[in-house]
Amino acid sequence: MLPAVLQLSEERRSVFGPGGRLSPLREPFEFYPTPPEATRALLWVEAGDGGVWEPACGQGHIAKVLEAEGYDVTATDLVDHGYGRAGVDFLEQRLPRARHIVTNPPYGRGLADAFVRKALAFTAHTGGRVAMLLNIQSLCHPDRHASFVRRPPSVIYALDQCHCLPGGDARRATRRSYEHRYVWCLWEPETVPVTATRLQWLSTAPFTNVAIAKRNTQMKKGSLK
Ligand SMILES: C[S@@+](CC[C@H](N)C(=O)[O-])C[C@H]1O[C@@H](n2cnc3c(N)ncnc32)[C@H](O)[C@@H]1O
Repeated sequence: MLPAVLQLSEERRSVFGPGGRLSPLREPFEFYPTPPEATRALLWVEAGDGGVWEPACGQGHIAKVLEAEGYDVTATDLVDHGYGRAGVDFLEQRLPRARHIVTNPPYGRGLADAFVRKALAFTAHTGGRVAMLLNIQSLCHPDRHASFVRRPPSVIYALDQCHCLPGGDARRATRRSYEHRYVWCLWEPETVPVTATRLQWLSTAPFTNVAIAKRNTQMKKGSLK
């Protein structure tokens, strides 16, 4: 089912095309939700003070994990996926809605690049950090080389397992859905000089719902201290 679109600018309509698809094989509005373990893993290694804006919140897969960890989250999206405030085109916003920005942005047709640029412009004012879940292939590209060199992330977390499936529905996943590899890219506030990017490997396995449920059961039985 197509999500309800509240309002779309001319520019956004021309990017997304009929049914909100960048191409017939892509999901409407690039809706590929983030499995919660990817965000839990990030919060295991990173923390911040101040509110967080999830500007492409979808069904709240990232926002809910942030909230569960005690963050004050402002969740918005271009379209209504049933979570957060809909009808907010991030790329057309003029004012930041929180100090930090964390999202898995829409990809394709330069959308993710535009999200990164916009997020860095906002946090230049708020003094916050930016965390974006990106396809690792997108880091190695002639069109992005200069911008990464000019404004390098402070750290890139290479996730071992993270599958952002079409509409979050495993039944519609294809072989390609499982071939994508993801990283969290973190940018510091503009005032913090970053000359080299740290690369760190991060496993999502300890943060899946199954792993957490298993740990809880073991704790209840007293076999885990
Ligand atoms: C890859 S999905 C990720 C959803 C959510 N961030 C998550 O991680 O589960 C991309 C999301 O971007 C939203 N989106 C696309 N273009 C947007 C725009 N210009 N402004 C705000 N949200 C947008 C889509 O509706 C979709 O929910």
